[in-house]
Amino acid sequence: MKVHLSTLALGLAIVAAAVPAPQSHVVHEKRSSAPSKWVNVGRVDPMHNVVVRIGLKQSNLHRGYEYLMDVSHPESPNFGKHWTPEQVVKAFAPSDDTVAQVRAWLTNAGIDESRVLHTENQGWLAFPATAAEAEALLHTEYYHYEHEVLGTKALACEQYHVPQAIQEHIDYINPGIGLPVTTKEKPAYGKRATKRSSKFTRPRKFRSVEDWFGSDLANCDVQITPDCVAALYEIPPANQNVNPNNSLGIFEEGDYYAQEDLNLFFRNLSSNIPQGTHPIPAFIDGAEAPVNVSEAGGESDLDFELAFPIIYPQTITLYQTDDSNYALADTPTSGFFNTFLDALDGSYCTYCAFGECGDDPNLDPVYPDPSAGGYKGQLMCGVYKPTNVISISYGGQESDLPAYYQQRQCNDLPRVYLIASRFLKLGLQGVSILVASGDDGVAGPPGDDSANGCLGSNSTIFSPAFPNSCPYITNVGATKVYPGHTVWEPESAVVDPAGHPYTIAFSSGGGFSNIYPIPDYQAAAVANYFENYNPPYPYYEGNASFGKNGGLYNRIGRGYPDVAANGDNIATWNEGTFGLSGGTSASTPIFSSVINRIIEERLAIGKGSLGFLNPTLYSNAWALNDITNGTNPGCGTEGFSTAPGWDPVTGLGTPNYPRLLALFLSLP
Ligand SMILES: *[C@@H]1O[C@H](CO)[C@@H](O)[C@H](O)[C@H]1NC(C)=O
Ligand SMILES: *[C@@H]1O[C@H](CO)[C@@H](O)[C@H](O)[C@H]1NC(C)=O
Ligand SMILES: *[C@@H]1O[C@H](CO)[C@@H](O)[C@H](O)[C@H]1NC(C)=O
Ligand SMILES: *[C@@H]1O[C@H](CO)[C@@H](O)[C@H](O)[C@H]1NC(C)=O
Ligand SMILES: *[C@@H]1O[C@H](CO)[C@@H](O)[C@H](O)[C@H]1NC(C)=O
Ligand SMILES: *[C@@H]1O[C@H](CO)[C@@H](O)[C@H](O)[C@H]1NC(C)=O
Repeated sequence: MKVHLSTLALGLAIVAAAVPAPQSHVVHEKRSSAPSKWVNVGRVDPMHNVVVRIGLKQSNLHRGYEYLMDVSHPESPNFGKHWTPEQVVKAFAPSDDTVAQVRAWLTNAGIDESRVLHTENQGWLAFPATAAEAEALLHTEYYHYEHEVLGTKALACEQYHVPQAIQEHIDYINPGIGLPVTTKEKPAYGKRATKRSSKFTRPRKFRSVEDWFGSDLANCDVQITPDCVAALYEIPPANQNVNPNNSLGIFEEGDYYAQEDLNLFFRNLSSNIPQGTHPIPAFIDGAEAPVNVSEAGGESDLDFELAFPIIYPQTITLYQTDDSNYALADTPTSGFFNTFLDALDGSYCTYCAFGECGDDPNLDPVYPDPSAGGYKGQLMCGVYKPTNVISISYGGQESDLPAYYQQRQCNDLPRVYLIASRFLKLGLQGVSILVASGDDGVAGPPGDDSANGCLGSNSTIFSPAFPNSCPYITNVGATKVYPGHTVWEPESAVVDPAGHPYTIAFSSGGGFSNIYPIPDYQAAAVANYFENYNPPYPYYEGNASFGKNGGLYNRIGRGYPDVAANGDNIATWNEGTFGLSGGTSASTPIFSSVINRIIEERLAIGKGSLGFLNPTLYSNAWALNDITNGTNPGCGTEGFSTAPGWDPVTGLGTPNYPRLLALFLSLP
């Protein structure tokens, strides 16, 4: 008899996978193959120890947006009535019924109640078990996997079952099917594809600058000084009495300030700020600053040199994040922002949402850091109270996120939503988060996904930025004073083509998300843009039809940026020398400082912080300086055009301090 090899192989496969699940059980999660580069290296020993973590379905997650609007919309009777962290945990905690049903399942399956931990944040039930026990409970088989390139190991299954009767109460079980893509494996296309480019908006430095012009307002078209910023946005000098509860938060990672640079800057351009003035350290997981002047980072120096002159004598709190092993690694972990968010709210450390429970050891830094010289302490959870405003000049592209998130449906994009829901919850607690919208117009940085930073097989499709497309943050685009113009005229969107005098092209990041739909607060503004200033490009509607009919952007995605501020030719000192820097990296600390100043005035009359700004800004566009000149080129196009009202280049416009102050003081 002749046996077909293929038949034989099939027969073996069936035998190996034979752990029949009872009729009462259903497949809860399943994948067809391991993600690229992950190799199955064999069955797990039955006596291998695992911790089974059962993510419980949270209550009210679908109401998150509604809750946020309730405290953030200027017409809501609850405007400004922000929540405590405890209220946040309570609102989203799984129901008692969910906890009871899942517990009963475990008890009936022979897992004694005394072994089961219900975590403090209510989000999950966890218990230690042998692999054999877990396999029997979940009617599954665990395998060891190894990443071919990075050597990282993981334990996972291809599918697992839960009783149909309680399936609706379970979000996700770990160890489960997840084998995250640890890092992007892509060719480097020059500088910007290196480590930090995928996660931060690099300030560009033009060292071969013209002579330096002092702080004369007549030269703001050549270099932007603190006086130019104050004049552009009509920011008066700060009060000398500041509220100790209103320090401005600035996030940094893998880039460090030097005191000598700040001192040189203060001496030359802000003589009212004493030498030695420095941010208050809020160091996270082994991060340290400052560094010697020869090692100073362009981002950190820029952020402090812009923010201090606007807010001083108010202080800055520096959220320097991650030990240098992680912060400076050549293959950055993709789970950017999570360790930072953990430090602000401990419930995040073990928080479960949409399938992700706490940090992901395959994506996020692991502490204590096992590598030489790493931070040996425990992951820092909830150690800092978040400041009222946090400025973030770092980011990447939506497409940098692991493919497995993107292969799933919108509601099941765990990490994207996990990070978004963390931002949402900070907004609920009264924290305003501002993020730089990117420096590559409608594209990503060169080398991100393709040489030109664009998406699709022909590299023609616009690449939305991350976390910018998250609807719960305020994105800041960049403007500039063109040569021959003054601070008394409207600014324009930044368009600096590559080549002389700049080596790296720079245009204000903007566009439409492939992940998030248009949020309500923005709907009228986006509709107005499409109706009256329709971009001349084909588009698609929803990522399911990504690139269809030559479409270049998602017409029904969340648009960004929301606002803008100056981001070009910023006078800075870095590594001991004067130079001009820029990027939306510069715009963000400027806008954040303005919001900090406005909160200062609110606190002075007994009002509170502002939390999520967008609903108020979108319904009061009059309080911003509308920008109507310029575009944001990328992907071989002119990009989008600025227009009266909101546009995906400069958002609603730049700050008009007197108007924003009047607006926000008028609110409860
Ligand atoms: C700062 O916050 C603390 C704690 O909430 C409060 O007791 C104190 O009054 C605040 N200080 C000012 C000046 O508002
Ligand atoms: C301004 O900066 C330069 C270095 O670029 C430094 O030599 C000089 O001392 C500074 N000026 C003042 C007034 O401190
Ligand atoms: C900074 O410079 C000082 C003096 O030159 C030196 O002793 C120190 O080791 C340097 N620190 C770092 C982190 O390089
Ligand atoms: C959008 O669809 C494209 C093509 O199917 C895919 O490559 C990409 O990962 C998707 N993006 C998101 C955010 O889902
Ligand atoms: C890529 O370009 C070719 C040739 O112009 C075209 O036929 C094809 O549809 C394009 N593919 C995408 C995804 O845009
Ligand atoms: C408008 O923007 C262009 C560059 O896009 C610039 O050359 C021009 O000077 C700007 N006009 C004004 C009035 O600023």
